[in-house]
Amino acid sequence: MVFYIVNLILSPHVENTKFYLIIKIIFVSNFPSIFIHSLDISLALHYNAFIMCGIVGCIGTKKAKPILLDGLRRLEYRGYDSAGLAVWDGQTVNLAKTKGRVADLAELVREQALAGTVGIAHTRWATHGEPSAKNAHPQTDEDKNVFVVHNGIVENYKPLKQKLEQLGHCFQSETDTEVLAHLVEHFLKQGADLEHAVKQALRRVRGTYAVLVMAASEPDTLIAARFSSPLRIGMADGQIIVASDPSAILSHTTQVITLSDGEVATINRGGYTITNITNDEVINKDVDAIEWDVSAINKGAFEHFMLKEIFEQPETLQNSFRGRLDPESGLAVLGGLESVAEQLRRIKRIHIVACGTAYHAGLIGEYMLEEYAGIPVEVGIGSEFRYRNAVLDPENDVVLVISQSGETADTLAAVREAKEKGVLSLGIVNVVGSTIAQETKAGVYNHAGPEIGVASTKVFVSQLAVLALLTIFLGRQRQMSLVVGKRIAQALAALPEQIQAILNQSEAIKKMARAYSGYKDFFYLGRKYNFPIAIEGALKLKEITYRHAEGGPSGELKHGPLAMIDESFPTVFICPQDSVYDKNVSNMEEVRARHGRIIAVATEGNGEVKSLAQDVIYIPKTLEMLTPILSVVPLQLFAYHMARELGLDIDKPRNIAKSATVE
Ligand code: M6R
Repeated sequence: MVFYIVNLILSPHVENTKFYLIIKIIFVSNFPSIFIHSLDISLALHYNAFIMCGIVGCIGTKKAKPILLDGLRRLEYRGYDSAGLAVWDGQTVNLAKTKGRVADLAELVREQALAGTVGIAHTRWATHGEPSAKNAHPQTDEDKNVFVVHNGIVENYKPLKQKLEQLGHCFQSETDTEVLAHLVEHFLKQGADLEHAVKQALRRVRGTYAVLVMAASEPDTLIAARFSSPLRIGMADGQIIVASDPSAILSHTTQVITLSDGEVATINRGGYTITNITNDEVINKDVDAIEWDVSAINKGAFEHFMLKEIFEQPETLQNSFRGRLDPESGLAVLGGLESVAEQLRRIKRIHIVACGTAYHAGLIGEYMLEEYAGIPVEVGIGSEFRYRNAVLDPENDVVLVISQSGETADTLAAVREAKEKGVLSLGIVNVVGSTIAQETKAGVYNHAGPEIGVASTKVFVSQLAVLALLTIFLGRQRQMSLVVGKRIAQALAALPEQIQAILNQSEAIKKMARAYSGYKDFFYLGRKYNFPIAIEGALKLKEITYRHAEGGPSGELKHGPLAMIDESFPTVFICPQDSVYDKNVSNMEEVRARHGRIIAVATEGNGEVKSLAQDVIYIPKTLEMLTPILSVVPLQLFAYHMARELGLDIDKPRNIAKSATVE
């Protein structure tokens, strides 16, 4: 049957939707239900595809190089681990690619004239293959005739690559995109023109794409196509600009055509034609006028990256769950752990090590893993773990590090310490190909996309989601029942919508933050799963408002901190309706008796808290272990709106950087 599928992939005239239907029927009749459901989930998510890279291209009368570099700078928030461009100079296509940011690419081509007026460019956030010049786009075939920039994922690139290798093609990169360049070249050699070579290639692709293609053999043409990943064509005077995001177009024109799925644009200096990918039928599209504020385009409609990233959280969770969560069978499919799955079945202790916000995620992971997977967990701060000579048992222990950047020096030191002591090291990492991702034995990527605001928000919720998936994964290897696995998986699947309900309260939280912006000191308190949210909420407030904020377990109040409470020292209580709710209520009474103001984060429908607190923010009901994923969101918004009220540099707070790569 595997052969049957491969043949289908390579046989002509199979377009995406039909392909899925056929594969689905085969799976339904031949495989256990787990495969059917994960396929359904991944199919559903294709229509919500997440772009983590940026495309820009141009053709016309003006020099391509400055247009491409300017476009890439505007798209850099989409991805910034590598960048590249290709420009036709009248004789040949010049290709320049580098690991790093657009500034590094600009430096690389600073001395090069690149006199041409046709070109394509890309800024990448790695999904297949580490960030490197080799893996950066444009990707090309071995004759350096075809050049492709691509957003999305070619899911069937492995069988396509195998087939092309059998036909004599040699591949240079680890990317899925390189397959497209070779496929297009293959069809050009069979006599197709560039438009039809691209169409034939894309008809064999399963996955998502926005692509822009140029070829040395047909240099005055650009081919643009999309399936589930956006692509727009801007019509300026004497100039056509193609980009994945209007931000790269709007400094040239507001007149834009948006390609739909299955449409292919053939663009040359004289204009463009849009046709259907399957039958060449010409499609007449309306030109729309885009009315965005050009100065705000990099952040879309948001004033700051932090706010944008807070609002992206429903989508972030979907991306972290993509193909991994199976609510029907109560399983988590974690491909990155497959190679060590048998060893994980036998481990007896987990040491989680991380810094800052990632450490707070680790603390919540401890509660999840101990309660549901029955594995003892210790959580350490990277900067302490490296110097405390932790007792690690190579037979029974595993070190699990958590890091957004994958470059934090203290966290990396824990990975090296584990290696030194012969202990298995795992990572939960957002940046593909980062040092921690490379040095750990196995792990799980967050797939949260680039996080630009220094204050971590969307990656924190993704870290919690991945820890919950890991809890299911390890729990189901042990005593966790099918019923419990299903319950957690179903509750996880509901989270994106529940976060949206909290985001809808942003305006009310803004008013609250304004009212509290005159206070200089804050307390954040919570218990059990929400104790780490108390310290995370306090960290968010500290780092972007510079206000004094302390976070801790509610139960510690009477052991000292209560002495500080008076009417000038508000307390934020995170008190959802969980197993420790009554205990939190008693602590609230204690604060009230000292005339302390209370802001409470409570579960929808709770009337009691309202009578104790001056202000209440409600979150939807979920499983106790997942409440932190919801309760952190109002605290992120509270910190953001207060910092905005205070007029501070929210995305780049003073004294701290996004990634602490030195001790
Ligand atoms: O990249 P990492 O996740 O390893 O970074 C760890 C901390 O530096 C980071 O979470 C920091 O605390 C953030 N600024 C918090 O918002």
